[in-house]
Amino acid sequence: MKPLEWLGDRIRIIDQTKLPAAEVYLELHDYREVAEAIRRLSIRGAPLIGVAAAYGFALGALSIHAGSREEFLGKLDTVNETLAGSRPTAVNLFWALERMNRKAREPGDITDVKGSLVGEARRIEAENEEADRALGEYGAEFVRKGTTILTHCNAGSLATGGNGTALGVIKTARRQGKGIEVYATETRPLLQGARLTAWELTREDIPVTLITDSMAGSVMKRGLIDCVIVGADRIAANGDVANKIGTYSLAVLAAENAIPFFVAAPTSTIDLSTPSGDSIPIEERDPGEVTHLHGKRIAPEGVKAANPAFDVTPHCYVSRIITERGAVREPYIETLRELVQSQ
Ligand code: MRU
Repeated sequence: MKPLEWLGDRIRIIDQTKLPAAEVYLELHDYREVAEAIRRLSIRGAPLIGVAAAYGFALGALSIHAGSREEFLGKLDTVNETLAGSRPTAVNLFWALERMNRKAREPGDITDVKGSLVGEARRIEAENEEADRALGEYGAEFVRKGTTILTHCNAGSLATGGNGTALGVIKTARRQGKGIEVYATETRPLLQGARLTAWELTREDIPVTLITDSMAGSVMKRGLIDCVIVGADRIAANGDVANKIGTYSLAVLAAENAIPFFVAAPTSTIDLSTPSGDSIPIEERDPGEVTHLHGKRIAPEGVKAANPAFDVTPHCYVSRIITERGAVREPYIETLRELVQSQ
């Protein structure tokens, strides 16, 4: 199952807003359609957002008619701004766009540059898949036989295009014959855990128990969870982790119950230019996503609702950050820098 596929002059995506009820595929021909698909979460998950933005950038470049390099790059700025404005928290989006912008400014005529932009997007996609594979191996070293893992949101194939990050670790451990079981939190308000993680794990034949977000403390206290593994949307230089809303509560509950709390993410999610979680922009989404479920109102008319899509887990709660270059621990301010600078 590929959540996103490059078809030469368009991308084909699985519309994640429709899962698991229907497997609907969409073909996107235009960078504005790609930005809109990211905004409404048809394409989601930090690494996949980065891949989609890279292909969106390439699509935008291919559609430009320009008489000079300056005109071409000027029009490409509009493409860049539209994609960059789709969602604010996942740093993979900006990381991928930065790579594409750098590639666009390399010497060459416009036709060459268009070709090399497609090549760069393909490289970003391939590197992403390889990162998932490698971090899955590193992460599986922390998973003993018969472990029960709690995960939040969806950090699987649907979120990366590869094996997944948190789910990549789980799938690798499972392949190693470790007899893994998973608890997946439903992940209100948009139910990525119930709709996507449960769907993905069921398809892979990995035993999964779905719980509501508010059950997590109780299952931990009852001794049913051996470790927590989640993904990340942005990791600050000091190791603070922005991830799906509710992650912070899980980290605090894990600490309270002496359960290790792992974050699995590619190094493209590490943002050394953001010193701490305090400066990570947190997306505020439509309150209607809280007051309504599948388009049906569940709260009284006129009630105020808040809808921050992410929260920040302070680094003190994070046992290890697992990446494709290895797993690191405190002091993150040093270990993350070394990791990012090692090539
Ligand atoms: O709003 P979403 O569904 O894009 O949020 C996704 C998450 O929070 C994931 O945990 C994160 O992007 C890591 S995906 C490998």
